[in-house]
Amino acid sequence: MLEKIWATTVAPVNSVKGADFAMSFTNKKYFSLRSFVTTGIRTKAIMVLACALPFGVQASKKHDNASYQLTPVTYKQPLAKLGKRLFFDNRLSGDVSFSCASCHIPSKGFSDGLSLSDAYGPLEGFRNTPTLINVASKSIWFHDGRMGTNLNDVVRDQLTDAIWMNMDMRIMQERSKQDPVYVEMFKQTLGQEPTNGGIRKALAEYLKSLQSKNVAFDQGELSAQAKSGWQLFKGEGNCTSCHSGSLFTDEKAYNIGVAEAPEIYNEPARSAAFIAFNMFMGNENYMNLRADPGASVQHHRYNADDFSSFITPTLRELKYTAPYMHNGSAESLKDAVNLHFSGKRISSLKNVSLSEEQVNNLVVFLEALSGDPLTGNDVVWPEDKPIRRSYPVIPDWQNVSN
Ligand code: HEC
Ligand code: HEC
Repeated sequence: MLEKIWATTVAPVNSVKGADFAMSFTNKKYFSLRSFVTTGIRTKAIMVLACALPFGVQASKKHDNASYQLTPVTYKQPLAKLGKRLFFDNRLSGDVSFSCASCHIPSKGFSDGLSLSDAYGPLEGFRNTPTLINVASKSIWFHDGRMGTNLNDVVRDQLTDAIWMNMDMRIMQERSKQDPVYVEMFKQTLGQEPTNGGIRKALAEYLKSLQSKNVAFDQGELSAQAKSGWQLFKGEGNCTSCHSGSLFTDEKAYNIGVAEAPEIYNEPARSAAFIAFNMFMGNENYMNLRADPGASVQHHRYNADDFSSFITPTLRELKYTAPYMHNGSAESLKDAVNLHFSGKRISSLKNVSLSEEQVNNLVVFLEALSGDPLTGNDVVWPEDKPIRRSYPVIPDWQNVSN
């Protein structure tokens, strides 16, 4: 309800500043309240009044943050619950050895704490596992932005890609149909037997339920140091030229000069995964690459301007997701910020030079973009209810149609 008042009473926030803004906000609210009363909707007016008066003060604190506020994503609870069971179920990987949650770990902001991720079987990964919190609010996915359609397609890729879950869709369907719990859950939610499309739908619905909760920044509760970090972030630091909007990303690709991770080229298990990926993507010169092509995967060219550029990542929930950057080469937030100013300089940061104190303030601000840990049973399959993976054979199974 508060969000609604906010949205309807203050549209052109960016044009109004400081005390003037606080005044005009209060006046607008006052007028809207009056019109409520005069049109006779008394109870509604009283409700609005009850929230509006103390809220007016808080709202004025918020005004320049408006385009940075998250819009809550709606989702269907029962379908998300089915998705939750699937997300924590090892049977979704080809050899039944791990689940989505093996790499996207709830206590680590749904990333994994590693520089470079694990991968299927004997392979090792070559990219840092990103957070999945607020992933449904994105419109372009993966560090290289190779997926820009919808979350359902991203889920399909994660399931079937030989480097991640290596799952065969036919086997996945058969496995889920053998489990009476899935059979029942599918009937209740989608009114059908377990299908591949249904599994993807449920996983995508579950991903929608992963949303930041109680973030100091969103609640207008920044400490003095975080506030000066925020001023710097959108002012002198010029961070908002790329990290803008509710996820603090413009969803565009840049090469900010992150150094290569040598283990991708030195360690056979990573190198094999890296070459296989680039071959499968149709990237030129895939056998000889000694740098991650990044966003140039979108046109597969080797010597392109966007070679080794990566999509600006979200800056939400960073408290839980170290190490940072597409290859995990920055261990701390301080390293991640400083990295923008070492080596090759991007043009938007060419004239920016920050003192250590300023970098510290930025870090404190960045920490205020993280909310409560998402580790409750609403998003985590409870440990005291292990997913039962053995069940009696269906009686007379040869004559049961499917
Ligand atoms: C072996 C580790 C691993 C497993 C298992 C895994 N992921 Fe991922 N996931 C990653 C990595 C690494 C990336 C980034 C890959 C890239 O950018 O090229 C990623 C990216 C994603 C993204 C895109 C995030 C973004 O912001 O762009 C989504 C969504 C996702 N995974 C969901 C899932 C789901 C659902 C499952 C289970 C079906 C799953 N993942 C299983 C490691 C894993
Ligand atoms: C030119 C665009 C651009 C500007 C300006 C910019 N960044 Fe970034 N930032 C990026 C990109 C792109 C990455 C990811 C690079 C990679 O993974 O190789 C990144 C990564 C980060 C990360 C690591 C996040 C993670 O999850 O890995 C932090 C923290 C960060 N930036 C903070 C800042 C701050 C603070 C400023 C202002 C001083 C800033 N950035 C300015 C584009 C930019």
